[in-house]
This record gives sequence, structure tokens and C-alpha cells, in this order.
Amino acid sequence: MHHLSFFNLFQLSTLLFSLALLAQLQPGDSLSSPKISVNRRDLLQTIGSVTAGGLLLGDTTTNPQASIAAAAEENLQGPIAVLGASGRTGALCVVACLERGIPVKALTRTGSWDLPTFASELKTDGLLSVSSCDVKDSSALQTSLQGCRAVIYAASASKNGGNPKAIDNDGVVAAGKACLEASVPRYVVLSSTATTRPKSLGYKFTNLLGGIMDEKRKGEEEVISLFGKSSSSSSSYTIVRPGGLEEPKENKVLGASTLEVSQGDVLAGIISRADLAEATVELALSKATNVKNTALEVYYTESAQPCEGRFKSQMKDGVRLHGDTYEELFRGIQPNVDYFTILPSRQIARESSSPAHLTPAWIAQLGRPYQYS
Ligand SMILES: NC(=O)c1ccc[n+]([C@@H]2O[C@H](COP(=O)([O-])OP(=O)(O)OC[C@H]3O[C@@H](n4cnc5c(N)ncnc54)[C@H](OP(=O)(O)O)[C@@H]3O)[C@@H](O)[C@H]2O)c1
Repeated sequence: MHHLSFFNLFQLSTLLFSLALLAQLQPGDSLSSPKISVNRRDLLQTIGSVTAGGLLLGDTTTNPQASIAAAAEENLQGPIAVLGASGRTGALCVVACLERGIPVKALTRTGSWDLPTFASELKTDGLLSVSSCDVKDSSALQTSLQGCRAVIYAASASKNGGNPKAIDNDGVVAAGKACLEASVPRYVVLSSTATTRPKSLGYKFTNLLGGIMDEKRKGEEEVISLFGKSSSSSSSYTIVRPGGLEEPKENKVLGASTLEVSQGDVLAGIISRADLAEATVELALSKATNVKNTALEVYYTESAQPCEGRFKSQMKDGVRLHGDTYEELFRGIQPNVDYFTILPSRQIARESSSPAHLTPAWIAQLGRPYQYS
């Protein structure tokens, strides 16, 4: 597809995504926005500064595993790198870091980045660095991501940046490799809801944009495989699958209490880029083991919908996580989840990089059996 026409099409993505969700609404249902209840101080309480933990490092000169751990430990003092910081969500991720007093590297294709007007009062001295990093350039990724405590992948196909294969697949994988090589503790990938549901309307509509969903899924699969094979336990990934991205006139943060997290790629909804950026930065900062090496969906609770009609029962029986703080919201996340599938017994289990998780014990710990009515 010609780049220009692709770019024009790309601007329609939010609309298409919302249409796909709307198409699944029942008569009488609504997709009303949640009430505004911003309380940044509450959110900030959950953060805390990420300081050196209590790893037992041993002799790092003779033990390769120990030197990887030592590198990761050192990285915990470093900045969060945002790839695709020029993007709408990427820029808000940079802002969310600055608001928390966390050092941040805004990495853009061109090497320039300006603070959005609404955030012009934010303190940037000693916190913000801006440099160029084209995600198509593996060596630029390797250099740029050294010493970072976390990397957020917020780049996506653009007119001048590259097509979906280059940016939503190959770039995601190259950045994951660079994170592993540099022992970056956390790699958070912004993907999309329904990447594992090629028969869903959301997938089909969005995929009209240059096969972007196909490419996102390939990128996800490769990242899961890379981190699964890696001998380093110092780096972990989290794939974030947001629902349709609202384009708010104001970048209001509604906060953790308005959000729902689910897993298995069965439920979806809408979320503003501002709230997505907040949740993404929180996941990048999280040291909780349960958020590591897994995929999750995030959207406003009031907008929740099954991503395919056959998942309707999950609105009632599925795991739908909520909390007044991000810590609470993330508490029930399960590691090693990719997507749920239907077992012959009509239970839903999860596909994961580690089939060992498909055990009765795992299903039991979810509290509710995954049964279709
Ligand atoms: N729209 C929706 O409803 C929806 C729903 C679910 C998920 N998502 C996903 O959510 C993510 C964030 O979306 P968004 O709308 O906030 O993104 P966006 O505004 O389209 O930003 C993407 C950024 O990626 C940058 N980029 C492209 N090629 C690059 C390269 N080679 N090197 C470095 N940066 C490059 C672009 O920069 P340049 O402009 O300089 O090229 C652009 O600023 C995307 O992955 C999107 O697919 C969207």
C-alpha cells in the first residue's frame, strides 16, 4: 500500500476500532465515559521510587548470571526510555514519567521532542533527555536502551517512519532483543486488543490498515518466544493490549479506579491515551513478579465488551480486575498469559509460552471456572 494512503487510513483507526466495538453492543447498552475522578496524589502514593533491591549478587567477575543481575540492578537507577515518544500515547508516557519525577529518555525518529503545551509547567531539568532512535535501526536501539530501567514501545507505523511490518513487528522484536542484551529490567509493549482474535470485527477492521493486526500479533509472538528462551531472568516483558483509544480534547486522567484489567484477550473497551500512558508507566515501574512476562487488556470498566460474541459469558464469569490504586488493579494479574482458548471440556484455559500453566491447579486459583453457558 502506498505510504500516503496508508497514513490517511491510519487516522481512521480509532473510528474503526470504536465502530467494531459498537457493532457488538446489545440494544440498550451504552459506551458512556466514566465519571471524572482524578486524584493524582492517590496514584502517586502507589509509585515510590525504584531503588536498589536486595539481590544477592555473588562474584560477578566469574559468574555470568551474576553479572547480568548486577547490570539489571544498576539499570534500576536509569531512565525509562520511550520509543516512539513523538506519538500521541508515547508523548503522554514521557509526561507521566516527568510527573512522577522519574528520569525519561524521549526517543523519536527525528531526534526532536517538545513538551506538550498542557504540561509546559513540568520540571524537566535533570529528568528529560531527548535523542533520535529509529526503531528500524537495531544498533541505535542497542545504544539507546543501555542503562535504562524500563523501555516502553509506543511506536507504530507512520507515513515517514515505516510500515506495520517494520514498526509493529520487526521494531518490537528488535527492541525486545536490545532489552535482553542490555539487561533492561522491564520491556512494556503497546499492542492492541484482539490481536489473538483474527475472526473478531476489531481485528478485521483494524487489519485493513496495511495488515497491522497481523504484524502486531507476529511481534507479540516473537517477543514472548524471545523472553521465554532467554536465560536471563533479569528482564521481563509485559504486552499491554488497550481497547479503542479515545481522542480526548483534554488529556484528563481518570485514574486506576475507572479502569479494568483483564487477561486472555476476551474483553475489550475504550480508554483514553492519557489513562493508557499512566497505566503503561505504572507497569514499567512495577517490580511485582505477577506482571512480568504476560499480556493484559486495559480499558474503562464502563465500556467493557466481549471482543467476540462467544465471550459474552466472560462479562459475568471472567476475571475482571479493579482497584482504587494501580497496585490493587494489577494485583490479580497472572504471569505467562497470552490468550484464553476453549478446551474440549468447554472450559477456557490460557495459551501461554509455558504449557505447564494449563493445569487444574492454575484454573482453580482463578476462583471461578471458565465455563460457557
Ligand atoms: N487507535 C486505536 O484506537 C488503537 C487501539 C488499540 C491499540 N492502538 C495502538 O496503540 C499504540 C499507540 O497508538 P497512538 O495512536 O498513540 O500512536 P501514534 O500517535 O500513531 O504514534 C506512533 C508513533 O510512532 C512513531 N514511529 C513510526 N515509525 C517510527 C520509527 N521508525 N522510529 C521511531 N518512531 C517511529 C511515529 O513517529 P513519526 O510520526 O515521527 O513517524 C509516531 O509518532 C499503537 O501501537 C497503536 O497501534 C491503537
